[in-house]
Amino acid sequence: MSSDQAQLLRQLVNGQSESKEDNIQRDMHIITVASGKGGVGKSNFSVNLALALQGLGKNPIILDADFGLANVEVILGEHPKYNLSHLINGECRIGDLVTKSQYGISFISGGSGIRDMSFLPSYQISDISRKLGELSSLTDILIIDTGAGINDIVVKFCNLADEVYVVVTPEPTSITDSYALLKTLINNFKLKTKVKLMINKADSQKEAHDVYKKLNYVCENFLQHPVDYAGFVPYDEELFRAVKEQVPIFRYNMRAKASMAYYQIAKAYLIGLGEQVKKESMKENWVNRFKRLFS
Ligand SMILES: Nc1ncnc2c1ncn2[C@@H]1O[C@H](COP(=O)(O)OP(=O)(O)OP(=O)(O)O)[C@@H](O)[C@H]1O
Ligand SMILES: [Mg+2]
Repeated sequence: MSSDQAQLLRQLVNGQSESKEDNIQRDMHIITVASGKGGVGKSNFSVNLALALQGLGKNPIILDADFGLANVEVILGEHPKYNLSHLINGECRIGDLVTKSQYGISFISGGSGIRDMSFLPSYQISDISRKLGELSSLTDILIIDTGAGINDIVVKFCNLADEVYVVVTPEPTSITDSYALLKTLINNFKLKTKVKLMINKADSQKEAHDVYKKLNYVCENFLQHPVDYAGFVPYDEELFRAVKEQVPIFRYNMRAKASMAYYQIAKAYLIGLGEQVKKESMKENWVNRFKRLFS
């Protein structure tokens, strides 16, 4: 896809054909979550980032673009009635697909058990991208969870995004696969979007920084596309338990290491957007102040 096409799609999604004032109110920021290697934590990141953003006063919608595998609804413990296959078959509009989860955040199911969905022809992917514009009246932030590696869907949604979050773990294969993904997106598909690395399952902040520095070095020097550091989520046994219970960790235990890390990333994202993060409740402030004074 050329960058002109990407620009056009972005305009369609952001409703830029409408008046400027209207556009400001209806603006929708798009985050696409991708990875080189599978199983690195994209779907958990998408869901828990959405929950953390909700806690910060936002109203995000998650689009499960890992078509056919239903990662998002499994993590949320939901069984939505409609999914993207209904949209593709013209049986509903995209707004009808938005399912409110028991946790208050909304999502669009990519369908489950529909293997063919992962091989959608490119005109159908474009059609879905165009229809996403309708969501701008329902949400301020759209988080798109994709499948691992590179395919037409990943390319399309990375180009459509305002920011691409690449999830990487400290495993050498995850680092090399992330670089391969970025190299293909940047060199072959002319990705211009800002890229942020989210380092998952790290043992320490130092390990996460080292992973970031390694990848940023090669991206900057060999792809001329430096990447930003989004933050890190430590390896947390409790997340594994939460996944088994089909409760997102952010709700399973808000004080878990992983939950607090997702919250920090959400805050950093909003600060990056230049937004005023909603002041935490008085109670929370007291708890924090107490901790600072006595720890
Ligand atoms: N920070 C973490 N600490 C411990 N375990 C984690 C962490 N993040 C993810 N996991 C584990 O990794 C598994 C895979 O996570 P997830 O489904 O989010 O990955 P994914 O990248 O979306 O996978 P896929 O590529 O198959 O879509 C989870 O079921 C969970 O057990
Ligand atoms: Mg997933």
